[in-house]
Amino acid sequence: MQPLDEIAQPGSRERELLERIDPHRLPRHVAIIMDGNGRWAQARGLPRVEGHRAGVRAVREVVETVARLGLEAITLYAFSTENWKRPRHEVLTLMALLEEYIGRELETMRSNNLRFRPIGRLDELDHSVQKALSRAVAETAACTGTVIQVALNYSGRQELTEVVRAAVAEAQHGAVTAEAIDEPWVEARLATSGLPDPDLLIRTSGEQRISNFLLWQMAYTEIIFSPVLWPDFRQADLLEALLDYQRRERRFGGLAPKAGVFSPPGTARA
Ligand code: FPP
Repeated sequence: MQPLDEIAQPGSRERELLERIDPHRLPRHVAIIMDGNGRWAQARGLPRVEGHRAGVRAVREVVETVARLGLEAITLYAFSTENWKRPRHEVLTLMALLEEYIGRELETMRSNNLRFRPIGRLDELDHSVQKALSRAVAETAACTGTVIQVALNYSGRQELTEVVRAAVAEAQHGAVTAEAIDEPWVEARLATSGLPDPDLLIRTSGEQRISNFLLWQMAYTEIIFSPVLWPDFRQADLLEALLDYQRRERRFGGLAPKAGVFSPPGTARA
């Protein structure tokens, strides 16, 4: 985590929130469903795409903050496989915004040691978007700081279907047996492999759904539904969410840490 002065100005509300955050209990990985861009624009009498454009500012502010806080990863849901159903102009604008974002932020990512990682069916994206993504991946490959994971043409069900296909293919070649397939085997074949599961999911705009996002990875994720529309989501909203997260007690199906621990048969240590 960088010095507090690098993250928020002394005397500001953001700084006051930041000082209440326990740096030792930060989530390792935050996932965000950036929702409400269309409604933000409509409320201002603007075309929906203006909401997406305004949403890029929120992306920058949130990415900068998580990087300064030193989180391991952030995953942003930028485009789902269902989003193709939107008007062509909106889809093209979203793709153009993504390309623009990469073009503008690549140097900042590299100089701040941030690793860019797109996930989803990238091969179905426009050729020029694929090129921009590959360039960002290649140029940040050696970065060891926060991973900026962007879900594009992503579907959690599709990701799991791919793993099932891989299992069948490997079994047909004799490379794996049914008994050898366990949770680590599956995890190693997910798009997010190598990263911890999200500790915290934030969905903006008041909608309360998972929408086919990181279905396997979110088994134990804490979820915060924020009423704020994504283009209005600022550093203070993120810090509030982190404080809310730190007030929660994560039990992963067990009991509070002070309770006695029962070990399943055969696992108890002598
Ligand atoms: C959902 O709002 C938002 C999206 C489908 C796209 C999010 C994309 C961006 C913020 C810009 C580009 C991303 C990056 C990573 C640079 P909505 O349109 O569903 O809003 P509504 O529910 O109010 O209609």
